[in-house]
Amino acid sequence: MAKLSTLLGVFVTSCLLLAGCHGTNDEFGTKFQQFLDEHNYNGGSVAAMKDGKLVYANGFGVDRFNNAIHAGTMFPVSSVSKSLTAVAIMQLAEKGVLSLEQTIFGKGGVLHMIKPYKKVQDPRIHDITIRHLLHHTAGWDLNKPPIYDPVMNSVYISRGHKVPDILKVMKDTAPLTPYDTMRYMISQKLDFTPGTKMVYSNFGYLILGRIIEEVADTGYEDYIKHNILIPCGMWHTRIGPVRSNAEIINLGTSINGPNGPIDKFEDSDVSLYDILNPEDMDSALGWQSNVYDMMRFVKCLDTNHHGKLLNPTFFQKLLLRPVAAPIQHSDTWYGAGFKVNSHSAIWTLADPHTDDLILYHKTKDTSTEKESHSVDSFVFLLNGKGLQHLKHKAHDLVSFVDVKAVSHPFYSDLSDIHNSTGYKDVIIKYKVDEHHLDAYVSALKQENLDIKWISASDRNGHTCFTLLAEPFDLPAKYAMDYIVQHGLMEKKLLHHKIALEAEGYNMTFLQNYMSASHDSRHAFLAIFRKGAYDEKTHMKFGIHHFPRPYMSLMGLYLEKGYHPLVQSYIMHDDEEKISFVFLKRTNTPKVNFKTYYGLSSPQLQRTVKQNGKADRKLSYLDVSNVYGKPKFSAVFTNENAGKWVFQLGMKEASMEALVMKKQKFGFLPKIVIGYTDKDQIDKYAIYLEKSSVL
Ligand SMILES: *[C@@H]1O[C@H](CO)[C@@H](O)[C@H](O)[C@H]1NC(C)=O
Ligand SMILES: *[C@@H]1O[C@H](CO)[C@@H](O)[C@H](O)[C@H]1NC(C)=O
Repeated sequence: MAKLSTLLGVFVTSCLLLAGCHGTNDEFGTKFQQFLDEHNYNGGSVAAMKDGKLVYANGFGVDRFNNAIHAGTMFPVSSVSKSLTAVAIMQLAEKGVLSLEQTIFGKGGVLHMIKPYKKVQDPRIHDITIRHLLHHTAGWDLNKPPIYDPVMNSVYISRGHKVPDILKVMKDTAPLTPYDTMRYMISQKLDFTPGTKMVYSNFGYLILGRIIEEVADTGYEDYIKHNILIPCGMWHTRIGPVRSNAEIINLGTSINGPNGPIDKFEDSDVSLYDILNPEDMDSALGWQSNVYDMMRFVKCLDTNHHGKLLNPTFFQKLLLRPVAAPIQHSDTWYGAGFKVNSHSAIWTLADPHTDDLILYHKTKDTSTEKESHSVDSFVFLLNGKGLQHLKHKAHDLVSFVDVKAVSHPFYSDLSDIHNSTGYKDVIIKYKVDEHHLDAYVSALKQENLDIKWISASDRNGHTCFTLLAEPFDLPAKYAMDYIVQHGLMEKKLLHHKIALEAEGYNMTFLQNYMSASHDSRHAFLAIFRKGAYDEKTHMKFGIHHFPRPYMSLMGLYLEKGYHPLVQSYIMHDDEEKISFVFLKRTNTPKVNFKTYYGLSSPQLQRTVKQNGKADRKLSYLDVSNVYGKPKFSAVFTNENAGKWVFQLGMKEASMEALVMKKQKFGFLPKIVIGYTDKDQIDKYAIYLEKSSVL
C-alpha cells in the first residue's frame, strides 16, 4: 500500500511539471513552436489523447487580443459547431423524435410553418430532407452568385459587397435572423437538385439548428447544453459572446472586386466573429470551446471508448458515406458533421473564414500493429490562418507527443490548486459559474473525483461555487455516485429528495444560498449519494427555520442523540433563516458538538480557537451576506479531533501558498468557502486537518 501511494505522488508531480510549464520542455512543444513560427501563426493550443486518455494539453504564443494562450484558452471553434449540431440531430433520430428522411419545408415538413417571403419558385425546395442538410447535399452552392453564402449576408453587406441585402429585399428590420434567411432562401431557386451534389453549406446547418428547436421544443443552445455538454463534462463550451454593433463600423476598408465575396473575405484579417452575432449562426458556426472540451467531446462520442452520446448504430450513421452525392475522393467524404475516411477517422477543419483548427479522431485502430505509438485523437486551435499547413503537418507534429506520459492533465483543467501529499490528490477550484456547474460536476466524475466541499458565493452578480474534490476513497464495491442539484426552491428540493431516495440516494449535503442565476432567489443546493446511509443511520432535516425554534428543535434532537451535519444560514427578507441536516447513528456514542450562526470574521476566528482548545474540530462552515458583511455559520464536533489549521480573509494566492506549505506536513484541506468581505473583495476561508493516515 505504502509503495503504491508513493508512486501516485510521483506521477502527479510529473503531471504538474508537464501541464504547468508554458512552452517547450517537451519534444512536441519544441516542434510545435517551430511550426507556429514558420507559418506565421501567433499562437495556439493543442491537446492529444490515446485510448480515451488525455496525454497532452498545452498552449503557446498569444491570442487575437495579445493574451498568452494556455491549454484552457477559449477559441471560436467554427465548424465544430456543425459536429455538435449533427450529433444532436442523430440523438433525436435515435430517440425516434425525427427521421433523417423527413422533409423540411412545405406541407408535412418539419418546418412547415416557415413561409416563403414570396412564392416558392423551385418545387425542389420541398424535396430537401434532414439527411441532405447533414451531408451538405441540399442544393445550395455558396460559390454561386448572386447570394453566395446566405449566412454571411450581413457580413458582405457591411463590407460593401454587391449581393442582395436580404433584410432590405424583404423590407424587414435588423438583425437578420435565421428565420428571415430561411424565408428568403426558400423563395429562391436552388443551385442543384437535392441529393445530387455535395457543396459545403453553413445555411444547411443553420436550418438543422431550427429543426432541433422545433422538435425538442427548447432553444438550440439549451438542447446542446443538456444533451451533449453536461453529459460529456464540457464545462467551458458555449455560444460565443455577443459583440456590440460599434465593432462592425470599425472594420477595415471594404473590397469590391471581381472575385466574389468569399475569396476576398478570406484575405481579410478581420474575424468573422467581429461581425456576426454568434447566436445568429449558432448551429453552423457559433460555438466557443477549448482543447480540453474538444477532447471530452470525441471521447464521449466514440462508442468504441464507451461513448454515451449515441448508441453504436447511430454513431456509425454519423460516419456513413452519402449515397447520392458523386464521389470526389474515393476514400474521404462528408459524413454528418464530420469528414470521414475509409480508415475510420473523423475530423473537422476550420471554415474558410475563420482561424485554423483541426479536430481529429481515429475511431478504431485499423493498423496491424498491436500497440500503436501515436495518439488517436488530437485538436489544434490556432490563432491565424494557413489551413493547408495545419492539415498537412498536424499528423507529423503529434507523432512527437509522448503517449506514455503518465499524468492527469484533466486535473489542471478542473483545479486552481492541485497537489499531492504523497498519497492523495486534492484539488481546489475557486469560481465555477452556476451556469457551468452541472457540466463541471460531470467532468469531475469522469476523472473519478468526489466533491468533498462546495459553497456558493456571489461574485460580481454571478453565483459561483468554490469546490474541494478528491479521488473516491471508497472500495470499489460501493457505488461511487453522487448527484449535485442546485437552484432548487423548497418544493423542488423536497420533490428531488423523494424521487432520489426511491432510487437509493441519500441527501448528504444541503446549502441555502442567493442565486443570481435564479433571479436572486434563495435557492438550495443539495448533494445526494447512493447508499450513503445504512440502516443504523437516521437523518432529520429542515428548511428555513427561524433561529429560536431551530435552537429548541436542536435541543430536542440532541436529547435523542442527533448531531448537526449541516447548518446553513441565510438572511432572507430581513429575517434569519436556518436549514439543517441532523444525523444519528445507533450503537455509537453521542457526538459532542457546538453550533454558531451569524458570526463576524473576528468572532469566527476566536470561536475556532476556543473550540480547538476543547478538542472540537470544525465540521461545517457556511457564509451569508448580511447587509454587505459576511456572517458565518459553524458547527464543531469532537469526532476524531486531531491537528488542524484554520485561516480566513485570504486572497487566492495566499490560500494557495498556505495549502502548498501545509501539505508538506500532511495537512489536507477539508472545508473551503469563498465569500465577499465588507469591502467587496473576494476572500476565502479554509480549514485543513492533519491526516491520520500519515
Ligand atoms: C437512505 O436511502 C435509502 C434508500 O432510499 C432509504 O431507504 C433510507 O431511509 C435513507 N436513509 C436515511 C437516513 O434517510
Ligand atoms: C507539491 O507538494 C510537494 C510536497 O508534497 C512540493 O514539494 C511541491 O513543490 C508541490 N508542487 C507544487 C507545484 O507546488
